[in-house]
Amino acid sequence: MRPAMPGDGAFLADMVVEAANWRAGSTRPRPTVLSDPVHRSYIAGWQRPADHGVVAVDAGSHAIGAAWYRLFSPESIVHGFVASGVPELIIGVSPLWRSQGVGRALLRALTDAARGNGYARLALSVERDNFASALYRSEGFAVIRSAGGRETMVRSLR
Ligand SMILES: CC(C)(COP(=O)(O)OP(=O)(O)OC[C@H]1O[C@@H](n2cnc3c(N)ncnc32)[C@H](O)[C@@H]1OP(=O)(O)O)[C@@H](O)C(=O)NCCC(=O)NCCS
Repeated sequence: MRPAMPGDGAFLADMVVEAANWRAGSTRPRPTVLSDPVHRSYIAGWQRPADHGVVAVDAGSHAIGAAWYRLFSPESIVHGFVASGVPELIIGVSPLWRSQGVGRALLRALTDAARGNGYARLALSVERDNFASALYRSEGFAVIRSAGGRETMVRSLR
């Protein structure tokens, strides 16, 4: 695990594409996903001063997964805005590396980093039928909003 760096933008974009295509059989092409304003919001201009992320790497130092957070405003076109000062988390693991504990480890590392950076809460958005929803619950996130098949979840870091 290492901190995300400015040069990780393309890999983070890959993870946004993976998250958008999480459903079995979904193969939206990368340009289609990244031209969506919501998806673009999660990576455009990476790495801004308040952006923070962690990258999981394999034995050859190749990135295999990432989790990061960004601060948004009420005007931002995103799924999981809760309040100013509450960052939204985004996570993805490369297909070959899933279901081996990488996602949970990324989630824990990013939560620790957010706490260390003084945030009181962390938010995220997930489609209700994604198993990741159960992962987030097991890591202390609770649903605060449910609409249109999506859940907005928040975890207190205090
Ligand atoms: C969601 C994701 C980040 C989770 O990372 P991961 O490395 O696969 O997850 P982990 O191996 O850490 O598993 C975490 C928990 O989820 C469960 N889990 C993992 N894969 C699962 C699957 N295919 N179906 C159901 N549960 C699963 C595990 O049982 C595990 O719980 P446990 O520790 O009690 O065994 C990753 O699978 C992913 O990138 N998926 C596609 C994109 C996506 O959906 N992103 C999230 C959008 S909000």
